[in-house]
Amino acid sequence: MLDEPIPLTTGYPEPVVLHKLSTADADLFAHHVAADLDHLGEHLPWPELAKTPDGARDWLAKYYRREDGRLVVGGAFAGDELLGGALLLQYDERYATVELGVWIVSQAEGKGVATAACRALIELAHGELRAERIEWQVAPENVRSRRLAEKLGFQFEGRLRSTYEYRGRRHDTEVLSLVGDEIAQAVARG
Ligand SMILES: CC(C)(COP(=O)(O)OP(=O)(O)OC[C@H]1O[C@@H](n2cnc3c(N)ncnc32)[C@H](O)[C@@H]1OP(=O)(O)O)[C@@H](O)C(=O)NCCC(=O)NCCS
Repeated sequence: MLDEPIPLTTGYPEPVVLHKLSTADADLFAHHVAADLDHLGEHLPWPELAKTPDGARDWLAKYYRREDGRLVVGGAFAGDELLGGALLLQYDERYATVELGVWIVSQAEGKGVATAACRALIELAHGELRAERIEWQVAPENVRSRRLAEKLGFQFEGRLRSTYEYRGRRHDTEVLSLVGDEIAQAVARG
């Protein structure tokens, strides 16, 4: 999946291309995460794990091994600079369900890079996985993420209470989804 790079249409001043990330990118990835940890880790637990080269390698290796339904991490590059990316995880082939995640460094926010990276992975989920349900999980305080999901066409489903612990306290998770024909419609909207 994502074996060929995908050019993204964005408002970023340079061309942006989505490349599959592998453990060979661990040093670059760790630097990228560590340089913007306060922003990336505000609502997400994984940046704390991936902020060192060893941590990044472990984190990326789980995608290589497809551990627990992890499928692919796409990195959005402007030249050699990693701006952020999107990922597919929690894939269940039997039920054709998958989860979509995304992150963008603060200096590249608001330019449509996250939107375009998500659309590219929604298209792959539609075309290659024949996904019938794409899920978006978000912390209730993460207004920017929820707004992005809704712009992509995701529908709000509800709030799961006390799903995980992060930074010493329990957090809820909001769930949105694209199902059935909504997935093709989200692809067409791009
Ligand atoms: C959540 C997150 C990914 C949102 O990223 P973003 O940069 O706001 O998303 P985008 O730029 O793609 O889209 C939003 C804006 O870009 C604009 N945009 C979309 N396509 C565009 C284009 N082609 N050209 C110019 N602007 C565009 C949209 O109009 C929107 O503007 P607005 O914010 O003024 O309404 C980002 O804030 C982030 O990484 N946060 C930290 C990690 C995180 O929480 N991830 C989500 C986990 S659930």
